[in-house]
Amino acid sequence: MGSPFIYGMSVDGEHFTDREWETKRLALNFTNGVNSILISPRRMGKTSLVKKVAGMVNSDDLKVVYVDIYNCRTAYEFYEKFASAVIRATATKVEKMIETAKKFLMGVVPQINYSPEPNTDFSLSVGITPNANPPEEILNLPERIATERGIRIVVCVDEFQQIGEMPDALTVQKTIRSVWQHHRRTSYCLFGSKQHLMSQLFYSRKMPFYQFGDMFFLKKIPTDKWVPFIVERFKQSGKVISSTLAERICQAVDNYSAYVQQLAWNVLVVCGEEVTPQDIEEGLGATLDQVAPLFIEQTANLSTYQLNFIRAICRGYHDGYGRSEVASQFSLGSMSNISKLKKALVDRDIVEITESGCHLADPLFKLWFIREMM
Ligand SMILES: Nc1ncnc2c1ncn2[C@@H]1O[C@H](COP(=O)(O)OP(=O)(O)OP(=O)(O)O)[C@@H](O)[C@H]1O
Ligand SMILES: [Mg+2]
Repeated sequence: MGSPFIYGMSVDGEHFTDREWETKRLALNFTNGVNSILISPRRMGKTSLVKKVAGMVNSDDLKVVYVDIYNCRTAYEFYEKFASAVIRATATKVEKMIETAKKFLMGVVPQINYSPEPNTDFSLSVGITPNANPPEEILNLPERIATERGIRIVVCVDEFQQIGEMPDALTVQKTIRSVWQHHRRTSYCLFGSKQHLMSQLFYSRKMPFYQFGDMFFLKKIPTDKWVPFIVERFKQSGKVISSTLAERICQAVDNYSAYVQQLAWNVLVVCGEEVTPQDIEEGLGATLDQVAPLFIEQTANLSTYQLNFIRAICRGYHDGYGRSEVASQFSLGSMSNISKLKKALVDRDIVEITESGCHLADPLFKLWFIREMM
């Protein structure tokens, strides 16, 4: 048996829980050719959900393409990855992939690179160049393949926020949208982390991807779904945890998916046959130590004003930062400075703004900050 809890990568099978409603909705979108946009805080389970649905609906008539563009820094890096993923997902044999690339894309010299290990994966580089292959040709690739084969295609683009970070980002977005909106046999599922970047791409009327598709926000997995999952995973490892303590794991990390699994794992490591409240505390300490380097990096370049703003949030102030009560405790500067602080921290995904005001986006960041920086 592998590890009972997984938190560093997308999960499936027995490591996956809940998401029934989202699975149904996304599957319906995929099978009906409706574009989908999926947004959530980091590590909530976007990739896991999309991969699960992709596995469910993929068939000879409906091909699901998955492409992660996290490492793409320019439009052409994206086009290369996009074309390669579309060709790989729609051709079964390597020879067919080369043939498809040459047939649909002008003047390309595709290459297959095998990894040195036997029976392992290979990579396909299509060899797209800005001179020979205009964006429209590449972006139309799935639609042309789908039309020729009489199939339908769903292209899932993970870490889509990268599109907003490229040089000449607005032109790139306009080009992509103007091509994709005419597709009848191809639909798209666009999703990503870095919430504020994703929101900028899709929420503003001025942006090309405004109202591109069915947009939904992936919520936290509720405690009543987590508890039986945690109890069962402990049982599988020959250990016992009460529902109350499983609930405490969820509460400690505010139901953040990856943290629930990470904390559960750290508790499992320290506990005896049966989990005690002390084990939860120890597990939480270990989890905080594991994530601390990231938080140190995130706060290293913050100004004193920005740190003070975070301190105010940790003390329970979520709005009204201009009030004398807040000003007397935390030096935040003028009202216009406060607005700037807010924006800078939201842009860094440290702070999120909800109906109830400013909150820290990451529950462990908050615990760590109180432990180390208050
Ligand atoms: N449905 C689920 N059931 C159980 N655990 C989950 C589920 N979805 C996510 N997780 C937990 O969250 C972790 C991150 O999942 P995933 O990579 O799918 O999230 P993500 O939102 O794509 O993250 P990122 O923002 O880093 O791209 C998983 O390793 C797992 O621990
Ligand atoms: Mg992901």
